[in-house]
Amino acid sequence: MKAIQVDGERLIWGDVEAPVLGPGDVKISNRATAVNRADLAQRAGAYPPPPGASPVLGLECAGVVEEVGDEVTSFATGDEVCALLAGGGYAEHVVVPAGQVLPIPNGLSFVEAAALPEVFATAYLNLFMEAKATPGETILLHAGASGVGTAGIQLSKAFGNPVFVTAGSTEKIERCIQLGALGGSNRHQEQFVDRVSEWTADQGFDVILDPVGAAYLTDNLKSLGLDGRLVVIGLMSGASAEIPLAQMMMKRLRVIGSTLRARSVEAKTAILDELHDRVWPLISSGDIKPIIDEVIPLAEADRAHTLIAGNDTFGKVILEL
Ligand SMILES: NC(=O)c1ccc[n+]([C@@H]2O[C@H](COP(=O)([O-])OP(=O)(O)OC[C@H]3O[C@@H](n4cnc5c(N)ncnc54)[C@H](OP(=O)(O)O)[C@@H]3O)[C@@H](O)[C@H]2O)c1
Repeated sequence: MKAIQVDGERLIWGDVEAPVLGPGDVKISNRATAVNRADLAQRAGAYPPPPGASPVLGLECAGVVEEVGDEVTSFATGDEVCALLAGGGYAEHVVVPAGQVLPIPNGLSFVEAAALPEVFATAYLNLFMEAKATPGETILLHAGASGVGTAGIQLSKAFGNPVFVTAGSTEKIERCIQLGALGGSNRHQEQFVDRVSEWTADQGFDVILDPVGAAYLTDNLKSLGLDGRLVVIGLMSGASAEIPLAQMMMKRLRVIGSTLRARSVEAKTAILDELHDRVWPLISSGDIKPIIDEVIPLAEADRAHTLIAGNDTFGKVILEL
């Protein structure tokens, strides 16, 4: 089969071995995948796939079921599905454990469905399973205009959580507000920590979802209120910083580190089961939408990576087959 391969500095569309179907797996004829920031890190050699995962880039896909393993009863040939992958999405065919596959929400195209699995699983897992945000609790999302951020804004709004964002331009913040954020801070113009009193009526945030890491740690801890939770999901500014332990102790703060990709199939299945029950109906009804910046042919994945690296995208960049 054909897949995107990393060839030095370039991404090329070439022949690779097709993945082999196991008894608990689903084989998907891939119609669309999407770019995640992690793909750029994997391509650069900084984020290797977990043991046993395909070395091909790509953490999600949408397509048609071609074949199912002997133990699979939840899907059949011809079903239209999307899937959360540990790797292998930039390819014509994908094999994935059945627990990581979901039906496409009503009315969505393959391109729209490919925008869902990774960012909605990440935002849902970290806001509602790790940080355990309850209705009414305030949420701050850094990189609010990212794929994960635009999913997080919509989930927060849908589940009754006042949500604020940081992003890199006034235009992006305006679009985040249209999606449901109550306000935002432009990271190139001001320090977000200076807006927190105004946004939270001096209470501090209950939950912060942070893909930025080191540069934001001090201000994140300052921005949390009593019993606040910081979930670190990325290290875009660096991986090491000092934790003011007295502040953590006095405000009873929790700092949670979290990655989705390396979790077990069972853990991913539990996340997708919750997404299917609580979020898929909101997508089928149109209350929550896939947010797509651009659709690019998979063979031109290099151009899509350049676009993502430029930090100008709002939501997802989709790669269509
Ligand atoms: N732990 C996990 O399981 C997990 C899963 C999925 C994603 N993630 C992480 O979540 C983040 C978002 O992923 P994505 O694929 O949705 O990203 P994306 O759509 O590519 O958006 C990332 C955005 O982050 C902002 N940014 C870039 N460098 C930054 C910096 N140094 N400081 C502050 N902001 C910066 C830029 O927006 P602005 O210029 O508008 O700020 C950029 O557009 C990534 O860090 C990714 O690694 C983690």
